[in-house]
Amino acid sequence: MALVTSRKMFQMAYKNGYAVGAFNVNNMEITQGIIQAISEAKAPLILQISKGAREYASMSYLRAIIDVAVRENPDIPICMHLDHGDSFELCKQCVQDGFTSVMIDGSHLPFEQNVKLTADVVKYAHDHGVVVEGELGQLGGIEEHVVGVDDVSAHLTNPDQAIEFIQKTGVDSLAVAIGTSHGAYKFKTEPKLAFDVIEKIQKKAPGFPLVMHGSSSVLQEFKNLINKYGGKMPDAMGVPEEAITRASKMAVCKVNIDTDLRMALTAKIRQVFAEKPGEFDPRKYLGPGREAIKQMVLHKLKVLGCAGRASECL
Ligand code: G3H
Ligand code: 13P
Ligand code: ZN
Repeated sequence: MALVTSRKMFQMAYKNGYAVGAFNVNNMEITQGIIQAISEAKAPLILQISKGAREYASMSYLRAIIDVAVRENPDIPICMHLDHGDSFELCKQCVQDGFTSVMIDGSHLPFEQNVKLTADVVKYAHDHGVVVEGELGQLGGIEEHVVGVDDVSAHLTNPDQAIEFIQKTGVDSLAVAIGTSHGAYKFKTEPKLAFDVIEKIQKKAPGFPLVMHGSSSVLQEFKNLINKYGGKMPDAMGVPEEAITRASKMAVCKVNIDTDLRMALTAKIRQVFAEKPGEFDPRKYLGPGREAIKQMVLHKLKVLGCAGRASECL
């Protein structure tokens, strides 16, 4: 089947208390690792592409890889989503490139400007059968194209504003700031998330799907391998998996994961280079990296509760 939007996935996820994994893809091995896991576990899937991924791999290569994945997995609903779109023009381009979902991230803008930008994207995207994710409140951390704030607790989503934002923009889903941040250093001490923000929005807008960004767990296994084999990420800390499961049972229908993919690949490559310093065949280190991604995603699907849910989302 062709690429799908996330509409049915979110309806089912909300109703049945799970979340769909949204995994960032930047190259063939990452995509294949994710697809192998999804195909085995029969889970719905959102593959997301950032502005940086478009620039790194070029959209035509990424699209071709994803087309193969879709063709080879007709029983799995796959949505192709723009992650952190930063302008109307980029969202429009992605709609034209065949994305079935786009995110417009106006979270750094004053409220009314964010509303206006998001509503404009919604109008264009909906006219072309594409769904839209907006964002209100700000996350921390730094990625290539996504700069966060320092004090995440001061920028949590205001639930009343969220309701107004949803009504004024017509967005299909909303990314909320509940204390997570992008990258591998999410908390300095104990992880703390504002579940009350989710609860309040859920009460006022029942059935409306929320999105959790910055949701990697920074798995101990990969952190240890990276630190053991020459890396330096001693203070890395992610979102506890129990918190992801708890949010997935609430109104959170989409959980964004990139850092855990990066760390799985990096850990395995470091391990191969350390154990076999003479290795220079890329297949011998990218292969184990791809397998680590597959196993990691298989585990995530259980944490999210979406394993075995593919058919109901078709
Ligand atoms: O939230 C950001 C994603 O991890 C993508 O990061 O902009 O470095 O591709 P990127
Ligand atoms: P992580 O950095 O926690 O993987 O978050 C990724 C993300 O939110 C992509 O939009
Ligand atoms: Zn994000």
